[in-house]
Amino acid sequence: MNEVELQPVPNGISGKISVPGDKSISHRSVIFSSLAEGTSRISNFLTGEDCLRTIQAFREFGVEIEQEETDVTVYGNGLSALKAPTNPINFGNSGTTARLMSGVLSALPLFSTAYGDPSLSKRPMDRVVVPLSAMGAEVYGREDARLLPLAFNGKKLMGTTIEMNVKSAQVKSALLLAGMLADGETTVIEKGTTRNHTEMLMSQYGVELNQSGNNLTIPGNQQPKASDLRVPGDISSAAFFIVAAAITPNSELTIENVGLNPTRNGILTALEQMGASIEVKETEKIGDEPVGEVKISFSALKAVTIEGDLVPNLIDEIPILALAATQAEGTTVIKDAKELKVKETDRIEAVVNNLNGIGAQVEATEDGMIIYGPTPLSGGGLHSYGDHRIGMMGAIASLIAEAPVTIKDKDCINISYPNFFEHLEEVCK
Ligand code: S3P
Repeated sequence: MNEVELQPVPNGISGKISVPGDKSISHRSVIFSSLAEGTSRISNFLTGEDCLRTIQAFREFGVEIEQEETDVTVYGNGLSALKAPTNPINFGNSGTTARLMSGVLSALPLFSTAYGDPSLSKRPMDRVVVPLSAMGAEVYGREDARLLPLAFNGKKLMGTTIEMNVKSAQVKSALLLAGMLADGETTVIEKGTTRNHTEMLMSQYGVELNQSGNNLTIPGNQQPKASDLRVPGDISSAAFFIVAAAITPNSELTIENVGLNPTRNGILTALEQMGASIEVKETEKIGDEPVGEVKISFSALKAVTIEGDLVPNLIDEIPILALAATQAEGTTVIKDAKELKVKETDRIEAVVNNLNGIGAQVEATEDGMIIYGPTPLSGGGLHSYGDHRIGMMGAIASLIAEAPVTIKDKDCINISYPNFFEHLEEVCK
């Protein structure tokens, strides 16, 4: 059955876990390895459904990719060996596959078509299609190529300067990938800092890229070189257990091998500002990515304001942060987060409906939400809305609820955290 009933955990959660590989880095590792010349071995790859979509997409282009659990071997033969797929590519639920692959598919001299599931088919693609068109891309699709399905009449693009009008790592990455394959030089000007995994991996795969503040300049006609890579644990997945320990009395938890990239660690900053008892230790670097350990225990929390540059740094963590805020003393304000409306579901609506449904006091605003805390949470039924992060937020809410919580449509959690419920059971023992 696609639902689960979860019990409150009065004795708290404890132990040590390693969360699965980072979703953003897993996608990018397959993209660079598939475009590269030579064999790349990736370990701790995230086997969530989204990243498997990226693997499948490149198989359609004739790339041989072996996947055994979290080990992936990509036998790259370089750009010139890629073949036009005979079938439409299914991007599934994956926004990252859709946006990043749009950059690649526009810039390869091959024709391809792609579609997504009902959620992805509602999400804006013009944010990549419009700037790619400025480089000469020919993309056709529903509503003037604003929505999937899309058709890419791929061809050599021309480098240009693009000023981004949205703070999005997916858009930035699509443009950098297109720029890497184009003629001439491409400069992408970011509106603010977003996750920089693409930039870091470019150096690992031998791709030249120059950064000066918010300007990223990439010379064209570059052929990536194969590289081996271990994917760090995903801080966005860790965030669910970090918040779980912070809000559940009698809890103390350690998360090991977790990525601590400064463009991704806003959740830690926010929790520190809320007064959480949290210790962060960097233990190693994988390539340029800092990796380490986060220790967290239960403590009283206070309200915060989340806004501005911090928002892209914790955009995927806002649902779980909202849950934390229901337990914090005072009024938490989350603003500048309109992007939440175009995620896997409208996450403002989904968070507000779910949390209010179990007794929280949350108000939706145009670009975020206001959370009045602390409020006890009753049990009841929550709906994931088919969104993995909403489903996991509901599951963590059950730990502190006064009665059992039922999560409907729970299977979507496989998108980013296939062993989420096993880990939950493990820390609840
Ligand atoms: C991602 C970037 C973010 C994030 C998504 C993954 C990426 O989206 O929400 O889950 O891997 O680049 P935007 O860049 O569109 O904000």
